Amino acid sequence: MKLVVVGGSGYLGSEIIQAADDTDVKVYGTYHEHQGPGLVYFNLADEDSWDNIGKIEPDLLVWAAKRYFLDLPRFSHFINKIQSLGSRVIYVSSDIINCNEALNAENDLGNYARHKRAEHQLVDEQFGEQTVITGPIYGENSAGRLDGRSRRLVELAGQPQEYWDNVIKTFVSVRGLACTIVAKRHQTSPQDAYIGPGSRESYYQFHLRRATELGLPTENITASQLDTQEAQKRGICMDTSYADEKSRLWWPEQEISLRNN
Ligand SMILES: NC(=O)c1ccc[n+]([C@@H]2O[C@H](COP(=O)([O-])OP(=O)(O)OC[C@H]3O[C@@H](n4cnc5c(N)ncnc54)[C@H](OP(=O)(O)O)[C@@H]3O)[C@@H](O)[C@H]2O)c1
Repeated sequence: MKLVVVGGSGYLGSEIIQAADDTDVKVYGTYHEHQGPGLVYFNLADEDSWDNIGKIEPDLLVWAAKRYFLDLPRFSHFINKIQSLGSRVIYVSSDIINCNEALNAENDLGNYARHKRAEHQLVDEQFGEQTVITGPIYGENSAGRLDGRSRRLVELAGQPQEYWDNVIKTFVSVRGLACTIVAKRHQTSPQDAYIGPGSRESYYQFHLRRATELGLPTENITASQLDTQEAQKRGICMDTSYADEKSRLWWPEQEISLRNN
């Protein structure tokens, strides 16, 4: 099987490449601005670069690119081309598509939410391809890159820090998510797949746990409450967690061994 990871130079994409490398899959990744060893150039806005993917003739394409502008006609044209090559698609979506506050917000978060939701709906409803929904991703990836929240914890170690204890998420480890996506390569499901550990945490609980995992002091980390009106204004949902029945597709990290899958 040939797999192309669009966004292979990114935080999640590079981990998907690493996870696929442990299997029988021949994996290719793309970059846009940050060139890396073995990556091919691809920019959604530059149609000439699409041929770089066409030449690979993938069986499966995982869309793990993050962009901050919506260009739905071109995205649709691209997915159409991928299907015409005989390739399936897995689109990495976000829990933000279920957050009405974000979808209505006139700020960067709102732009991101509308963009993800529009692409998600197109992939799912028009093209009948697989979408996977994830909450905030964390952890050190195989390239040694940490998520932004953990990086900030390291930078602020020992300094007073407050995190909301009434904003709830399903936080998803980068390795677990990458392995779950790779493990799904032989499956097709018309439904959204919620991927995650089946648990919920507030931002406060998450930061406390991460500080402990990273060996950082925790006495300086305290809980605060986000005012619901303020949340509405900023486009923040109080709870976008998903757990239990929806997140059965999680591949528990301690069981990750993809070689035989
Ligand atoms: N991180 C999270 O907490 C989180 C949560 C939910 C969902 N997601 C979704 O997961 C996916 C990966 O996120 P991430 O955090 O790994 O993002 P990231 O580290 O910012 O990586 C983004 C990737 O997209 C590529 N890219 C940017 N503009 C592009 C364009 N015009 N055409 C083609 N590729 C382009 C980048 O290439 P260069 O770096 O080479 O320019 C990079 O490889 C995204 O779809 C995101 O919406 C992420």
